[in-house]
Amino acid sequence: MPTAETASASASATDKTPSKADAEPAKKGDLRGKPAPRADAESLGKQQREISVSEFFSKNRHLLGFDSPKKALLTTVKEAVDNSLDACEEAHILPDITVTITALSKDGGPPPPPAKAERFRVSVRDNGPGIVKEQIPRIFAKLLYGSKFHRLRQSRGQQGIGISAAGMYGQLTTMKPLHVVSKIGPKAKAHSLQILIDTRKNEPIVVKRAELDDWPYERGTEVSIELEGRYQRGRASVDEYIELTTIANPHVSLAYVTPEGERVEYKRGVDELPRAPKEIRPHPYGIELGILHKMLQDTKSHWLSGFLSTDFSRVSPKVAADICEKAGLDPRMHPRKVVGLVSEKLYKAIQDTKLMAPPTDCLSPIGEQAILAGLYKQIRGDFYTAVTRPPAVYRGNPFVIEAGLAFGTGKAAIAAPVEPAAESETVLVAEGETKPGEEEVELARLIRYANRVPLLYQTSACATHKSAIETAWKNYGVGQSRGALPQGPLVIFVHMASAWVPFTSESKEAIADYDEIRKEIKLALQECGRRLGVYIRKREHAKQEFRRRNVFELYIEEVAEACHRLKKGKFDVERLKKQLQRIAEDKTGGEETDRLLAKKKAQEQELPNSIVVTPEGPIGAPEMALQAMGEASAPAAPPPGEPVPAEAIAPSPKKKPSKSSKPSRKRGR
Ligand SMILES: Nc1ncnc2c1ncn2[C@@H]1O[C@H](COP(=O)(O)OP(=O)(O)O)[C@@H](O)[C@H]1O
Ligand SMILES: [Mg+2]
Repeated sequence: MPTAETASASASATDKTPSKADAEPAKKGDLRGKPAPRADAESLGKQQREISVSEFFSKNRHLLGFDSPKKALLTTVKEAVDNSLDACEEAHILPDITVTITALSKDGGPPPPPAKAERFRVSVRDNGPGIVKEQIPRIFAKLLYGSKFHRLRQSRGQQGIGISAAGMYGQLTTMKPLHVVSKIGPKAKAHSLQILIDTRKNEPIVVKRAELDDWPYERGTEVSIELEGRYQRGRASVDEYIELTTIANPHVSLAYVTPEGERVEYKRGVDELPRAPKEIRPHPYGIELGILHKMLQDTKSHWLSGFLSTDFSRVSPKVAADICEKAGLDPRMHPRKVVGLVSEKLYKAIQDTKLMAPPTDCLSPIGEQAILAGLYKQIRGDFYTAVTRPPAVYRGNPFVIEAGLAFGTGKAAIAAPVEPAAESETVLVAEGETKPGEEEVELARLIRYANRVPLLYQTSACATHKSAIETAWKNYGVGQSRGALPQGPLVIFVHMASAWVPFTSESKEAIADYDEIRKEIKLALQECGRRLGVYIRKREHAKQEFRRRNVFELYIEEVAEACHRLKKGKFDVERLKKQLQRIAEDKTGGEETDRLLAKKKAQEQELPNSIVVTPEGPIGAPEMALQAMGEASAPAAPPPGEPVPAEAIAPSPKKKPSKSSKPSRKRGR
């Protein structure tokens, strides 16, 4: 395959040798050696040629998230799973997805252990609508080809560069074609294609094509890619991506076969698809002059006023007439004639006209109850809360911010408050948590999402991270150092839903820092923090009172026995004990303490959209969250010292998922 280098090398080889006068003589001892011939416009002209998008991205694969073998494995899984979820949701199908990663040897011999392997096969199968066979080659082997770029609708993919880039990376590192099997319905045939990409032309080459009679599924798509990669568990791993995906997508059922051959199943928590987001037209405030110009040239309308009211959202015929008047233009003029200074006038008139904010039915937030369900299902804690903000707008694009918190270590589920020192000895400490007596402070863990996709890299470049460190967590009873995330056993969840998420690069790892976005994230976090503060204050207060009452109770026994002895047995010990008990309760907050200790189910009104875990079970949980908790068989009361069994959350028929495949149970950084 010729590359840009070979092309330019052959071009310069045909150049004339420059005259002696042109070339500077090489000085003695000059390490640069013989100077390169000086170029002129003609010689440069011979080298100038178009760069295909595939050539560009195969050289700059870091821009697409393929900068290291570990990240390449994650990005490949991510692109395929994101596409499967998008396709299922668009077709109104509850997604059933299987991800299989297999370690391979480089020479066809027996595969090495997964931790040592350098080559893998990633295979992702969905039960989605399938892809018509004519489109398969271009979808999987042509960069910038897709159904999502030209529309404004909330989806995981947006650039049309995801799965084809993964296929291209696989081809670049293993020379193996991408393999797709797709079937569009129970009566249709399954089509199997092996495809390579011609990076010079950015066009597909079909290597092998077949119709399968024995593909055992009704409908769906399976894509397999062989690539150079590295498999590691822990942070920013495939395991973490899958787990975080199931938190934000409780409507998904996902089976994950790890390179070690374990099968981890994440059951569907909610039997309802998210609300289907509508496609919208662009809002006039969000477009630049150049885009307006292009839209004027491309429109199907014949009148300027018609163009304004049909190609944009929130421009009624009356508003369109106002805009034309302001710009001093005839509403009946042909849009294509609006060029140069005239288009600038029009642009200014649009900006000066008061318009309604863009419609928000293009957004499909996760929702407070589903976030609660997801957090409760996957993360062990004592307190959970979730907030969905009303829609807001940046650069004419509507968006919604959602935030959630999971706080605590899950010990509230096992007993009434006890002295922390006593309990920490018996409780297993997950990797990354501080052991008793250790000084190291544990920082909150921030989990970030854009359109329900977990973002695992570039944390500090992300608007979510900036907002989280700018939130004054100390106001809510949580420690925080300057410029850092808060401390303690806390998981912070932030989601941005938008028809156009402003990522900082094509690899879609961090959300750009627009003021409007940061403000919304902070408002959502502040509301979550306020609720956390209420919970922490009440719990601390209750603990103190409970301790006092315990002290009283110790003495009640003694006092009653002493009185019994003094009265030489002529005394009702039990009655005195009861009376003293009542006094103790009154003095230590009585009913109030019980309630604060969450023994009474009255938390709902004080903490909306929150779950408080108590020894008797979770309280304040909205119905959907409860349903997601496995029809009341929630992991509310695990035996002391035991982490919540993973099966309670994601039953695994064969093997129990190992501890490290559950990274979200580990708290800390
Ligand atoms: N599993 C799938 N099922 C159905 N359609 C798919 C699937 N994967 C990809 N597609 C289609 O292929 C297009 C290109 O995918 P991709 O390269 O990942 O770009 P993007 O997701 O950004 O549009 C998608 O827009 C979608 O129309
Ligand atoms: Mg995609």
